[in-house]
Amino acid sequence: MTVAPPKNLREIIIMEKNRVLIFDTTLRDGEQAAPASLTVEQKCHIAKQLASLRVDVIEAGFPISSPGDFQAVSKIAEEIKDGPIICGLARLVQKDIEVCADAVKRAQRPRIHTFIGTSAIHTEKKLRKSEDEVLELVKKSVTLARNKCDDVEFSAEDAGRTNIEYLYRIVETAIKAGAKTINIPDTVGYTIPEQFGKIIDNLYKNVPNIDKATISVHCHNDLGMATANSLMAVAHGARQVECTINGIGERAGNASLEEIVMAIKLRQDFFNVSTDIDTTKIMQTSKLVRNICNMPVQPNKAIVGANAFAHSSGIHQDGVLKERNTYEIMTPESVGLKTNSMNLTGRSGRHILKTRLTELGYVETEYDMDAFYTMFKELADRKGTVYDDDLMMLMEKLLGNRDVEHLYTLEYLEVLCGKGEGVATKAKVRIKYSGDAGLLLKGEAQGNGAFDATKRAIDDVLSEGITVKEFHLDAITGGSDAVGKVTIHASTAEEGTFVGTDSNTDIIVASANAYMDIVNKVDMVKRFKRNAAKGGDADSEIVNSNASQFAMMEEYTSG
Ligand code: KIV
Ligand code: ZN
Repeated sequence: MTVAPPKNLREIIIMEKNRVLIFDTTLRDGEQAAPASLTVEQKCHIAKQLASLRVDVIEAGFPISSPGDFQAVSKIAEEIKDGPIICGLARLVQKDIEVCADAVKRAQRPRIHTFIGTSAIHTEKKLRKSEDEVLELVKKSVTLARNKCDDVEFSAEDAGRTNIEYLYRIVETAIKAGAKTINIPDTVGYTIPEQFGKIIDNLYKNVPNIDKATISVHCHNDLGMATANSLMAVAHGARQVECTINGIGERAGNASLEEIVMAIKLRQDFFNVSTDIDTTKIMQTSKLVRNICNMPVQPNKAIVGANAFAHSSGIHQDGVLKERNTYEIMTPESVGLKTNSMNLTGRSGRHILKTRLTELGYVETEYDMDAFYTMFKELADRKGTVYDDDLMMLMEKLLGNRDVEHLYTLEYLEVLCGKGEGVATKAKVRIKYSGDAGLLLKGEAQGNGAFDATKRAIDDVLSEGITVKEFHLDAITGGSDAVGKVTIHASTAEEGTFVGTDSNTDIIVASANAYMDIVNKVDMVKRFKRNAAKGGDADSEIVNSNASQFAMMEEYTSG
C-alpha cells in the first residue's frame, strides 16, 4: 500500500481555510491620514457602513492616542453587534494595552491589536532597544494583552525590512504568549510581490507553532504595490488582509479593500479563496468615506473612481454595446454602481425620499427626517433635480452638524465681484451669535477675489487669527448648477489646524460657510481651553469632548 506523502503545512492550511478575512483599518490607519480627525459620530457612521459591507474586523481606532479616539472605539464596540470583531490598536506598552482593553470591552467580539517595530532600523534607531529586549517585550506585553482579551493580534511593524531569522523568533514568541493572529506589515511599502510572498512562505516553513495563528498582512502603497503584495501573500497562505476603503492611509495609503475583494472575487480561478464582503455595498461605502474624510478619489482609481466603468474611445463603446464583457471584467452593478432612473425634485414626497435614503444605506432612526426634508426641499428648489451624491452630501451636513456646536452663523452675505477696470471685489456679512440672545455682528471688507473678501469681512467682526492653508473645491454633481463642495484647511497660532467644509450650489456661500465651520471650531477650542484654565468644567460635555478631539490635545507617537 502506498501512503500519500504528507502535505506541507501551508498546503493543509490553504485547503482548510479558503476564506480570507477582511480587516478594515479605515478608521485607524485611514483616519491617521485624513486632513482632520473624525468626530465620534462620523466614526460610528462609517463603522455601521463597514458592518453592513460585512467586513470581518473593524479596527476602530488607537484608544490611547486621544480622548476622541477612545470614545469612538468604545461607542463602536457598544453599538455594533452581531457582526464584525471590534479591534483597537495598542503599542507594546502596558498603559496602551490597558486603555485599549477598556475601550473594546463592550464589544461582542473584542480584539486587542498590539505592535512593535522589529526591523533593525526600528529597534536600533526608533526604540533604542536590543533584539532580545524587544523579544522580551513581545512576550510580556502579548501575555498582558491576552490576560485582558481572548483575541489578540500581534504586528511586527516593518516586517518587510526585518531580518527573516529574527522575524521567526518574534512570531514564535508572540504566538507562544497568546497571539491568535500574526500580522506581517510592509509598513513602508518597500517589498516586491515575489519577495513578500516568500516571507509568508518562509514563516509557514520555519516557525514551529505557526499553525496556531492566522497570518495577516498589512501593506502600504509607497511603490504602488500594496494590493499586489497583499494578494501575493494570500496566494502564499495569508488568510487575513488589512486594508482601507479607497486605499486611504499613511503617506501613499494602504492596500485598498475594494481592489483586494474584487480581485479575489473575480479571480477565484487563480486564488481559490473567497471573502464574505457584500460587494454591492462597495460604492456606497466608498462615497461615504470620501465625503466624511474629505478625501476625494482620483477619477481613474480602480473599482471606485468616477471613470472606472466609463468607456471613452469609439472602439470601446462599440464593443461594450455589442457585448459588455469585451471591455468590462466586472459589472458596475456588482460593486453597487446604479444608474438611478427615479429623479428626485422639489415635487418628490417623503416616501420616495426615505426609500432612496434607505437604498443609500441610511437608517431611518438615525436621522431627523423633518430636518432632512427641509434641507432637501431647499436644495431641490434651487437646483431642480437632486442626485444621490447630493443626498449623501446633505446627509453628511445634517449628521455632521450634530457634532459641532455652531454658535456663530452666517445670516447674510453679499459679494460684489467681476472683471474690468474699477471693479473692486467687496463682501458684506451679517453673523448671528446664538450665545448671546440674537446678537448680530456686521462686517465688510475688500479682498483679492470673492472668497478673500468674504473671509476678510468675517475676520472684520470675528478676528480669530485664522490663516487659510489650503482651499479645495469639487463639483459633486454635473451641470452649471452643480453643488460645489468646499474644503478649507486653516490654522491658528494657538489652537492648531482645523478643516471646515460646506456644500452649496453657490460656491462663494459654500466657501463662506466652510470658513464659518472653522471659526466655530476654533471658538469651541478657545472656550474649552479657557474653561480648563479656570479649572472648571467646559461649557458642556459635548464642547468638552469635541474640543479635545479637534485640538488633539493628547500627543502620541505610534510605535
Ligand atoms: O503600517 C503598519 O505597520 C501599521 C501597524 C501598526 C500595523 O499600521
Ligand atoms: Zn499601517
